[in-house]
Amino acid sequence: MALSLTRIDPTGTDREALVDFFTSNRFPFHVDPQPTRERVDEAIAAGRFRDDDNDSYWIDHAEQGRVGFLRFEDLTDQAPLFDLRLADRARGKGLAATILALGADHVFSTMPEVRRFEGQTREDNVAMRRAFRRAGWVQEAYYREGWPVEGGDPVASVAYSVLRRDWESGETTPVRWDPAGT
Ligand SMILES: CC(C)(COP(=O)(O)OP(=O)(O)OC[C@H]1O[C@@H](n2cnc3c(N)ncnc32)[C@H](O)[C@@H]1OP(=O)(O)O)[C@@H](O)C(=O)NCCC(=O)NCCS
Repeated sequence: MALSLTRIDPTGTDREALVDFFTSNRFPFHVDPQPTRERVDEAIAAGRFRDDDNDSYWIDHAEQGRVGFLRFEDLTDQAPLFDLRLADRARGKGLAATILALGADHVFSTMPEVRRFEGQTREDNVAMRRAFRRAGWVQEAYYREGWPVEGGDPVASVAYSVLRRDWESGETTPVRWDPAGT
């Protein structure tokens, strides 16, 4: 596979590179679209890149170099989440579904107790939503007005997941929305 994950040392060798990545790219679908150095330093100091709940990785591409950042979150829960951010230059090149597969491989092969791996995005993040679908993740929820937007109306938050058993079998189990017909 052309893509691989490299664990980040946020308080050591990777500190400057983390600040550079977060301050030199734009993240229009995140609550803080253009983090400042101060905000990244605060996040590092608070353990948001690596602590009991969080672990962060660079996404490396064999030809394109370091293309992005992937953080596993809520690791003390049985159902971790993630934060995926590609560098501006690496977006729109079809990498996302492979990265989702890489993330699921990592979670299910290194965390034996985890049965589901989850992701949330804004309803208008079309690229992320299409990537979820392409990677075989299943939409499980649509939280209306669930995502606050600075200076504007809230948008919906959409939740997806992949199950360990689907990852193992290569099949996709759809949601049975109303099996009892209630
Ligand atoms: C969201 C993100 C991870 C998607 O990764 P990507 O590699 O750019 O996406 P891809 O190129 O694989 O495209 C995925 C799909 O979305 C479509 N797409 C890509 N960019 C798009 C855009 N700007 N608008 C609409 N559709 C888009 C592609 O055509 C593709 O559709 P297909 O599967 O039907 O062919 C990446 O763009 C990114 O890091 N964005 C900024 C951070 C972010 O929003 N992260 C998500 C947080 S949950």
